[in-house]
Amino acid sequence: MCPQPERSTTAAEIATPSRRLVLTGAGGFALAACLAGCGAPTATATGAAARVTVAATEIPLGSGKIVGSFVVTQPTAGTFEAFSYLCTHQNLPVQQVSDTAIVCGRHGSTYSIADGSVLTGPATKGLTKATVTASGGNLTIG
Ligand code: FES
Repeated sequence: MCPQPERSTTAAEIATPSRRLVLTGAGGFALAACLAGCGAPTATATGAAARVTVAATEIPLGSGKIVGSFVVTQPTAGTFEAFSYLCTHQNLPVQQVSDTAIVCGRHGSTYSIADGSVLTGPATKGLTKATVTASGGNLTIG
C-alpha cells in the first residue's frame, strides 16, 4: 500500500474547488505517490520488460529463479541464461523453476532451463530469450 501524503486545503479552495484542486486532491496525490515509489513494474518505451540486476550467487545451479519479468537460469556451472517470464501459451507469467524445468502451472507447459524450448505443452513456442551481462558478480538482464 502506498503512503498517502497529506495536503492541507485552504478555505478558499474548499469554497470554490478548481479543476486543478480536484485533479491534485487526495486521489491524485495517492496515484502520483504510487507511480513514483511503489515499485510497480516498468517498461521501456518499446514495451520491453524493465532491465533487472541480480547477484549471480542467487541463481541456483541446475535450476533458476524468476527475477522481475525474467527467468534467470544456470544450466551448468557459471553459465547463465535468461528468458521472458511470459508463457507463450497465453502470455501469462510462469510461476516457478524446478530442478529440471521452467514451469507454467496454469495449463502445464514446461520449458528447458538451458534454452527456453518447450518440454511439454500446450505451449508450442519457446520462451523469448533475453540478454544476460555479467559484471562484478552481478547479472544484468534485459
Ligand atoms: S498460460 Fe502457461 S500453459 Fe497456459
